[in-house]
Order: sequence, then structure tokens, then C-alpha cells
Amino acid sequence: MNSTNSTPSISTLLKNHSGLAYDPANGLLMNGVSLTELAKEHGTPTWVISADILRSRAHALQNAFAQKNLPINCHFAVKSQDHQACLTVLRQCGFGADVVSGGELTRALKAGIAASKIVFSGIGKTDAELTLAIESEIGQINAESVEELHRLNTLAQSMGKRPRVALRVNPDVDAQTHSKITTGRAEDKFGIAYDIVPALYRQVQTEMHGLNLVGLAVHLGSQMLTEAPFRKGYERLAALIHTLRANGLTVEEIDCGGGLGIAYRHEQAPTPDMLAHVITDVFGKLNVNLHIEPGRWLAGPSGVLLSRVIDIKDAARRFVIIDAGMNELVRPAMYDSWHGILPLHTPKEGDTTTTMVDVVGPICESSDIFAKQRELPPLKKGDLVALLDAGAYGSVMSSTYNSRPFAAQIMISNGQHGVIRKRQTLDELLAHEHVPQWLATS
Ligand SMILES: Cc1ncc(COP(=O)(O)O)c(C=O)c1O
Repeated sequence: MNSTNSTPSISTLLKNHSGLAYDPANGLLMNGVSLTELAKEHGTPTWVISADILRSRAHALQNAFAQKNLPINCHFAVKSQDHQACLTVLRQCGFGADVVSGGELTRALKAGIAASKIVFSGIGKTDAELTLAIESEIGQINAESVEELHRLNTLAQSMGKRPRVALRVNPDVDAQTHSKITTGRAEDKFGIAYDIVPALYRQVQTEMHGLNLVGLAVHLGSQMLTEAPFRKGYERLAALIHTLRANGLTVEEIDCGGGLGIAYRHEQAPTPDMLAHVITDVFGKLNVNLHIEPGRWLAGPSGVLLSRVIDIKDAARRFVIIDAGMNELVRPAMYDSWHGILPLHTPKEGDTTTTMVDVVGPICESSDIFAKQRELPPLKKGDLVALLDAGAYGSVMSSTYNSRPFAAQIMISNGQHGVIRKRQTLDELLAHEHVPQWLATS
């Protein structure tokens, strides 16, 4: 069965996740490394990210554009996975970074990404963040509003600099994804309204002398699964390029944003070839430098979250209570998103028995649910599981809600593995809290 509501079988999940495989003696392996061993050595919950998978996806994306003979500047969307080790891997693959805060900008620079390869997107950049971007002489600042352009111009002039700037356009196109990750409709908070772009572009290029306006940017949304909205959004941008050039203005850079989706469940995931095809079709002959900002497509399938079953609770439903919670992986609670769950022990040969369960975390919130009425192989207290496709929008969104310390992070690379973030201790969690003397003594 392959209805959208059914649970893919273990073999289907494995087929869709290169890098994961069962070994009779060592359970589920990620690029040859036993996840059971990692969970035993480092405890749970623990994030595991594979540099091998990250690299192979980075190369697949670059190859798709190379096949089209289309030069492309790839900027990894740091928001999806911000660990410096991951940024280092992607830098080594030739990627730059797309950042949305001063913190992400600092991380990218610390990971050795050249400032010239960094693009700064984001709806609410503060003066301090813009100052940092100008000082660092990054490749491009994607301005989100008229107001931001004025602030940026004033700051740049006061610093005697002339940053490279693009206008992020809101093309009023529905990305046909979850509404909470849709960014390109007129009612969304992102980008500059399509209709005012021609006049604004002229104003910036002719009057805002602190800014070097180099082009346009767009980002329609995330987890986009079909070609149509990409094409529609890009065609709207191409129409603007024609209008601007007809008005004697120069457009050199086009930032196509991110958004390429992945198959969490039964989705037909789009391929990088599809993206390369659309971008080539729409912009290939327009004599512009092209940029993309993928996040999820690269990082999502590169990571898993390991967790241990605390208890099985038999009530109106069978609840499998695991030690990872929505404070680690918030996507199911926030977006109703679906993540594959695999036991770390190797299933018995030919045993396809499943039980209908709810897999829930320990957080005191009813939304702390990873799987509702899911057919899973029988699990018992103490068993270990992996939540799949947790490499993007996973660890970056985690919190310490319910006073739960940040989980450990491990990286696998070329047969080696090591801790890239040690588990936070409770002492570290409490270290910055202070009860004032005046309160403590009363
Ligand atoms: C401006 C911008 N660029 C790129 C991305 C990355 O998107 P994705 O992870 O879907 O590729 C995002 C995420 O929403 C974004 O806001």
C-alpha cells in the first residue's frame, strides 16, 4: 500500500535513505557506523549527522547544474543546520552560506566561509547586524523592505562603505507547501511587494549612493515538492529583469533562494535536476550570475535523532514513550510533520510484524508526539530508535523546555566519528541564571 496515510515499510525507508542499512550483528548502520554503539557510548537523545551524506548531496546538487553547463553559486541555508562542522564540510565542497542573523553570519565566518560567499537574508535585520555585514564585506545583503534599504544606506554611508545589495522580491506565488513555511505570497511578511520593485530599484540605483544594487532575490518557501511554483516565481523575476533592463538599469545577480523538498514519507521528492532545469530554462540566457540557497535538501536526510524507549504505556492507545521530545525535534508539533522511525536493532529475518502505536516524547505538552497511530515493529522498554531526516530544522530549533539540557551531536565522516557538541549538563543549563540577593534574602 502506498496511500499518503500509510507507513512506508522498513525496506522502503531504507531504499529512500542511502547511507542507512541494517547489519545482522550491529543493528542499524549509518555509513558503516553502528548507531547502537553511538547511543550506548554517548547516551540518548543524540543527534547524528553524516558528513558523507552531506557531501554526496552537495555534489549531486552541483552536478545537476554542471550537467546543464550553468555556473551556479551555492549558499547553504545555515538556518537549517548551523553546526560549524557541517558548515566546514560544505565549505570544503565549495559552498558559501545564506545567513539570517548576525549569529549565523558569525558562525559562517568562524567556519572559514569567505565573506564574499555569504548572503544575508532575513526580515528583521537590526542595525548591529547590518553593521556587522557591512564591516565584514559580505557578498550580498538581500534587502527585505524600503525601510531596511534606508537604514542600510545611512549605515553604509556613515561607515564609508558600499555594500552589495539585492532586493528580495515577494512575487505573490503560493509555494504549495505547509502554510507555516510559505514565504512568497503577498500576505507573507517576506520580501518587497512585486509591483513596487521597478520604481524602487531605480530609486536605489540612482539615489542611494551608499548601496551597490546588484540584483534581485526570491525565496518562495520550504519543502516545495513540485516544479510549478518554482517556475512561476522565477518567471515573475525574469519579467522584472526585462523591465528593469528596458529602463536602463543593471541587473547582474539573481538569487533563486532555497525550498527544494525531500521525501519524508511517500512524497515524490523533486530532484536537483528539476531545479537546475527550471533555473536554466528561465534564467539561462539572461546573462546573470545565479545563486541558490538550499538547506533542507542537503541537511535533512544527512541526520538522525537517536532515542531510547523509556516505557510502553498501554491505555486507550499503545504509547511508546521515548526520551527525545519536542524540545529536541519540534517539527512534528509545529508543522504536523512526519518522520520515519526505525528501530536500531536488526529486525528478525522475514519478520514483518507491526503494532499500531503513538510514539510520544516526555514533555508535558499534548503536542509532544512524533507519530500518531503508526504501524511500527514491536518496541519494548529500553529499545533504541532513530528518527529519520532530522538533519535540517532539527537541532537548530531545539530548546531546553522542561529543563532538558541540549542533546549531544555526533558527526560521522569517512568511517570516523566524533562528538561535535557535547551533551549540555544541568550545571551548564543553570549557569547563567541568577537569583538576586535582594530576592534571596527576603
Ligand atoms: C531566505 C531563505 N533562503 C533559503 C532557505 C532554505 O530553505 P530550504 O531549507 O527549504 O532549502 C530559507 C528557509 O526558509 C529562507 O528563508
